[in-house]
Amino acid sequence: MGKILVCGGAGYIGSHINKMLHRQGYETVVFDNLVYGHKEAVKWGELVVGDLADQKTLDDLFSRYDFDAVFHFAAYAYVGESVDNPEKYYYNNVSNTLNLLHAMKEHGVNKIIFSSTCATYGEPERVPITEDMPQNPINPYGATKLMVERIFKDYSHAYGLQFVVLRYFNAAGADPDGEIGESHDPETHIIPLVLDAASGLRPDVKVFGTDYDTPDGSCVRDYIHVTDLASAHLLALTYLENGGRSDFFNLGNEKGTSVLEVVESVRRVTGREFHAVLTDRRPGDPAKLVGASSKAKEVLGWKPAFEDIDTIVSHAWKWHEKKEY
Ligand SMILES: NC(=O)c1ccc[n+]([C@@H]2O[C@H](COP(=O)([O-])OP(=O)(O)OC[C@H]3O[C@@H](n4cnc5c(N)ncnc54)[C@H](O)[C@@H]3O)[C@@H](O)[C@H]2O)c1
Repeated sequence: MGKILVCGGAGYIGSHINKMLHRQGYETVVFDNLVYGHKEAVKWGELVVGDLADQKTLDDLFSRYDFDAVFHFAAYAYVGESVDNPEKYYYNNVSNTLNLLHAMKEHGVNKIIFSSTCATYGEPERVPITEDMPQNPINPYGATKLMVERIFKDYSHAYGLQFVVLRYFNAAGADPDGEIGESHDPETHIIPLVLDAASGLRPDVKVFGTDYDTPDGSCVRDYIHVTDLASAHLLALTYLENGGRSDFFNLGNEKGTSVLEVVESVRRVTGREFHAVLTDRRPGDPAKLVGASSKAKEVLGWKPAFEDIDTIVSHAWKWHEKKEY
């Protein structure tokens, strides 16, 4: 087996895939500028600190190692910030991805697995969302990811790039062994925010909107365990290695969980009481985002192992209590 390049592998999701690649016998090089990543999360393989903006560094990297494939997690992912400062997002998520694709092309590396997002769908016509539904992102973050998807199609046609695009719903949970986990700064994801409230690190947690057309009035989202995301990435790699056709897949759990249900789950799992403040809707939050993942199951043979919200929360809590970074 050759080496795998994990761009953004010091971040939350990339570090879990890096661990699983090692478990399966792959050697990895993690490339990360550590702007949001943590060197402590790179417990497997080699860490090269560098920025995708730097074409020369990328060319050196691809000259030094013989990569079989690239996993590309490196991006900015704060939706609100992307609205206020779209330039930052188009440069990092689109232009810097072009730098990576250029280095791959120049060095004859043609397999890539990419982190896309349900944000490319915007406000869905219906749920569960299937891959063939219209993609109309409602913020620059989602637009950058959709642009990269389109670039891949053109590169595939013109230069023979082989890609798997994985559109994640809400990544959640942590490594069941407790070695790595979620640590964003600033944190915007609901489960770590509720866990912060449960452990007294925040005075309370805000529930934005209780009058949506959902069973309990709060927003419904699709939480997918980060280890299940990791297993899908490994299957995507095998799929490409076996000559699978470039394609796009949703990764979600197919059933929604409301924000209030997450709050209740955290109360059950931690046994702690805390304050949940019910407040107004935030602009741009769709009532329900739930993905259909039958395509990933059928084509890649993916079987998520940790679908239950209490299991997801308990792994996140185990990490949260001892967090190393
Ligand atoms: N977390 C989610 O729920 C979710 C959902 C859908 C899609 N995604 C996508 O998955 C990917 C990973 O998300 P995450 O939550 O692990 O984010 P993260 O911020 O923890 O990880 C991203 C990593 O990329 C690195 N990085 C960013 N720009 C870079 C650059 N120019 N050069 C080198 N390294 C750079 C950061 O330092 C960080 O370590 C992102 O592309 C994100 O858009 C995440």
